[in-house]
Amino acid sequence: MHRLAFGKGFHAMSDFASALQAALGQHPKQISPKYFYDAKGSALFDRICDLPEYYPTRTEQAILAAHLPAMAECIGAHAQLVEFGAGSLVKIRRLLDALYAAGLAPDAYVPIDISTEHLIRAAEDLKQQYPALAVTPLALDYTQAFSLPVAATSSPARPIGFFPGSTLGNFSKTEAAQFLTQTARSLQGGGLLLGVDLVKDERILHAAYNDAAGVTAAFNMNLLLRANAELGSNFDVNYFEHDAFYNQAEQRIEMHLRSTRAQTVSLLGQAYDFAAGESLHTENSCKYTLEGLHDLALRTGFEPVAHWEDERSWFSVQWWRAK
Ligand code: TRP
Repeated sequence: MHRLAFGKGFHAMSDFASALQAALGQHPKQISPKYFYDAKGSALFDRICDLPEYYPTRTEQAILAAHLPAMAECIGAHAQLVEFGAGSLVKIRRLLDALYAAGLAPDAYVPIDISTEHLIRAAEDLKQQYPALAVTPLALDYTQAFSLPVAATSSPARPIGFFPGSTLGNFSKTEAAQFLTQTARSLQGGGLLLGVDLVKDERILHAAYNDAAGVTAAFNMNLLLRANAELGSNFDVNYFEHDAFYNQAEQRIEMHLRSTRAQTVSLLGQAYDFAAGESLHTENSCKYTLEGLHDLALRTGFEPVAHWEDERSWFSVQWWRAK
């Protein structure tokens, strides 16, 4: 697994550097949310998941808890589970337990995450807890092409994607369709278990990304602190503010870091101007409808087979077969 040998360092950093240079040089300024996830960002994200206003994690957990046996039946035995953006490996434990309880032991688990140390630490813990499971963490950016490790079993494993947490929503709707099309191909013969946040009352959405304790603001702002620490830029966080709002037309939450005054930031020998009120767009969190998800599955090479919601229909877990 020579990719892991790089650890955190040169490749990830130069990626971030060139992405940030490009982001600051364009109008409007925009960067991929994947750069949020250094060790600090991953830890802040775990705190977001526990916030009272941030309903998606809790709601998804409740849906999983209520329907895990049915989901396990869909997945079946001999799964090679591949989790995109695996984070702290909390959700997979519930799924693994359900599979073992149903006598449908999976062959392998491949957690993929861009946050290298966070992933390696979490995977070591998981291995201790599930000694019979072949755990192969991949520290990489799953939005780029990569190949899955070959499962070391006699019977062919069924490739099963697990993509919870409405991370799909952090892609634009076009990117989401591209990602799913490519994923459907690599999951052929298996399927995808996907957790997606649904369109709902704007006030609930707004509160989820504007928590009273300011953790989401700190998470957003951490991008600038990361840039200062890793790339030697001089963002003054006193003159940027967290701005998250629902864009009704696009059915998405947008997160921005908004400059509260005209200022110039230097990054790797270049100066970049911010006008007062100008923002760096750091993330989209697209919300879907059940009809939209059904269409999306069909358009991207999947067969939508089953879906489960909470009683308020705030969040959906979908099971799509890869044809
Ligand atoms: N994908 C989830 C969402 O869009 C989680 C997430 C990613 C998030 N970045 C975030 C939540 C920033 C709050 C703030 O909701």
